[in-house]
Amino acid sequence: MTMPVKVWDVWVRLTHWTVAGIVLWNLFGPTNATHRVLGYIAAGLVVARIVWGFVGSRHARFSAWWPTGSHFFDYLRSLAKSKPMHHVSHNPLGGLMAIFLWLLILALALSGWIMRLDAFWGEDWPQEIHTWLSVALEVCVCVHVAAAVLMSVWTRENLIGAMVTGWKRTAENKKAP
Ligand code: HEM
Ligand code: HEM
Repeated sequence: MTMPVKVWDVWVRLTHWTVAGIVLWNLFGPTNATHRVLGYIAAGLVVARIVWGFVGSRHARFSAWWPTGSHFFDYLRSLAKSKPMHHVSHNPLGGLMAIFLWLLILALALSGWIMRLDAFWGEDWPQEIHTWLSVALEVCVCVHVAAAVLMSVWTRENLIGAMVTGWKRTAENKKAP
């Protein structure tokens, strides 16, 4: 028996797909003024989403999905037994990845800004850091998308559909939150 549950409010979905679009553009598009403006916009949206993690709707809040030690290891054990626990909000691995992706985007904006300061004119390291962060983000995005598809198939919960519509069909005997 499955029940539709409203999981992601419009702000979570809007920030997710806008940030995803900007990240893809900035990873593979030209590195011009648009790149820089979009990079700052993505960082601003990430900051807004982090604030929303404290004041936003129930499932968007950090309190609903922060990957604490015990949740994290319970979840890993459930994966090892091929019986993945259900979560209405992010599962602990997904939550950890979300935090990681946000930090990488913020660090990219910071290194992009530093790179262009007069104080670092002629220095290579800010640029090298920016490049390495972008490679790390690329790898994490690939893992993130693969995990979203894989877990949707494995648990028969359409996680990607839920990030589009806001609604998730989930088992009634779900593990809250
Ligand atoms: C390309 C850059 C992308 C970035 C930086 C990114 C980042 C994120 C972040 C930070 C979250 C947490 C959302 C929140 O709590 O507000 C998230 C969730 C999610 N993303 Fe992405 N994402 C990207 C692309 C994609 C794509 C292409 C898909 C679909 C194929 C996707 C599917 C999902 C899903 C399904 C969730 C929710 C996972 C869950 O139910 O726990 N993402 N993403
Ligand atoms: C979502 C955030 C961002 C992503 C994913 C991103 C990604 C990238 C990538 C993949 C490159 C090419 C690296 C290379 O060819 O070695 C690059 C270059 C560059 N980025 Fe970003 N970036 C972001 C934000 C920013 C911001 C906020 C700024 C500055 C305000 C910035 C300034 C630059 C500049 C000036 C270059 C050219 C560096 C060069 O000449 O090699 N980026 N960025």
